[in-house]
Amino acid sequence: MELIINPVKKLRGEISVPGDKSISHRAVMLGALAQGTTEVENFLMGEDCLATVGCFKAMGVKIAGLDGEKLTIEGVGLEGLKESADILDAGNSGTTTRLLLGILAGQPFSSILTGDDSLKGRPMARVTKPLTEMGAKFIGRDNNNLLPLAVRGGKLKAIEFYSQVASAQVKSAVLLAGLFAEGETSVTEPTVSRDHTERMLKALGAEVVREGTTVKLKGRPELKGRKIQVPGDISSAAFLIVAAAILPGSDIIIKGVGINPTRDGILDVMNNMGARVEIQNFREQNGEPVADVRVQGGSLQGTEISGSLIPRLIDEIPVLAVAAACAKGTTIIKDAAELKVKESNRIAVVARELGKFGVKIEERSDGMIIEGGNSLKGCRCQSFGDHRIAMAAAVAGLVAEGQTIVEGAEAIPVSYPGFADALKLLGVE
Ligand code: S3P
Repeated sequence: MELIINPVKKLRGEISVPGDKSISHRAVMLGALAQGTTEVENFLMGEDCLATVGCFKAMGVKIAGLDGEKLTIEGVGLEGLKESADILDAGNSGTTTRLLLGILAGQPFSSILTGDDSLKGRPMARVTKPLTEMGAKFIGRDNNNLLPLAVRGGKLKAIEFYSQVASAQVKSAVLLAGLFAEGETSVTEPTVSRDHTERMLKALGAEVVREGTTVKLKGRPELKGRKIQVPGDISSAAFLIVAAAILPGSDIIIKGVGINPTRDGILDVMNNMGARVEIQNFREQNGEPVADVRVQGGSLQGTEISGSLIPRLIDEIPVLAVAAACAKGTTIIKDAAELKVKESNRIAVVARELGKFGVKIEERSDGMIIEGGNSLKGCRCQSFGDHRIAMAAAVAGLVAEGQTIVEGAEAIPVSYPGFADALKLLGVE
């Protein structure tokens, strides 16, 4: 499917973005493992989260409300999941796969998990290794690194795990397996990754303690279902934030965005680049900070994006590269080798696709260097099946001269159903 983008002068208006993808996945998983009912408001009805719903339904969990925005999950408790009669399909979703592997590791039954072509190429040894150490058994290609994976869960033992990568998916897989182990499971990461799993586990009654970059969880807690209100996804808001910031004369307000400090790196970067971004109406919703974000257009300067900032904005790098292309001067992005194992190789794909707009961009093994300030030319570009590449290209198209055609736009509803309508609402024709 093609998305046709015509340039626009400015964006104007008030809007909200769909629910946070990471939090929506966790609401289904933890709601299923809790006792009693969990009601999830503003659940993201995107394809990734629906893949998680499908997997839990296949394991006997009753989930209702898929026709609206409120989901109801009848929790089955830590012992209540049933062996699925069929292969579990995670679609395009790395979060579904890695977090689910942690849960399946603790089940007294066998499961087989697969996904689409992109997911079948993404590394899973980062979770199957620690889960094997805890006592689960896996069979899969490339030494249990690639889907499809067969899992034989069982009695797990708690471990102290030191992760090589700052990955919330790895941390969460081990913590979720730790729910089924006696004693304390701990995960230490090089820098802190998104902490939604920890926050939600606590909200449902688990004992979770953070000490620096280490998180500790006491096994076999009694989780209690509750109401969960999912904040708007800052990773979806990111496309609108950048679009408004690079179009002078823009003035938009995005309501109810989750600004968890492990996720809000984009706000720091926009600030460093000189963008006019304001946080209004700060509040807290079920242990997650939320605010309205106002963005006004203006001129941007190049910046450096590196170090502990990277996990706080890893999913925003494709669209931050568009901001960098529109900024005066050079932007250096480094320490971001993880980009190579996302839904596409986001270093190679961002460099190639932005190159088509005429952006001067140099690919590096752990990031990219972007020379900003030249005008962009509309072009025909490809998503490579990656939702965030498709939307970043669309944002570039808004400031380019002439029309842009984004091929592979059917990937967008993976995380942002209604993206094209959101642009229309803000004035894109
Ligand atoms: C996610 C963690 C991040 C992120 C992904 C969602 C999560 O991946 O890129 O989109 O929900 O835990 P990694 O943990 O692999 O960095």
